[in-house]
Amino acid sequence: MAKVLVMHGPNLNLLGTREPEIYGHTTLADINEMLVRRGNAAGVEVDCYQSNHEGALVDRLQAANHNYDYIIFNAAAYTHYSVAIRDAIAAIEVPVIEVHISNIHQREAFRHTSMLAPVCLGQICGLGVESYLAALEAVIYKLGLHKKEQTR
Ligand code: DQA
Repeated sequence: MAKVLVMHGPNLNLLGTREPEIYGHTTLADINEMLVRRGNAAGVEVDCYQSNHEGALVDRLQAANHNYDYIIFNAAAYTHYSVAIRDAIAAIEVPVIEVHISNIHQREAFRHTSMLAPVCLGQICGLGVESYLAALEAVIYKLGLHKKEQTR
């Protein structure tokens, strides 16, 4: 069975109550449940992980190497300045899709730069929590699993 790891960085544990005008009212548990369900329907096992700590995120990326087909990663604020997370993504063979709930390019100038984008497969942002779903849908297509769904 194909395996996808969904990773969430700092403060995303507060989704639902954190700046809802920017991030909406959906909780992290809701997002994870949505992704696990969509994944399972397509034959993808989805594991979810959140940490507020840079080193813990680096450790999880390293541990994911050779154990997952894709990683969907919202590194939150670390996106904009973490060389350590960028290097960890570059060091592993699992392709990483960068995700953001908000459109980082429409926000403050410091959010326009992603340290991670150059070492990620692609970036999806600005679609709300559906940014995660769009990334998972891309993974399902890349794995060819959408064809199996059509014939089911
Ligand atoms: C975010 C955007 C980041 O700039 C911010 O620091 C976050 C969340 C997003 O999902 O829109 O914490 O990654």
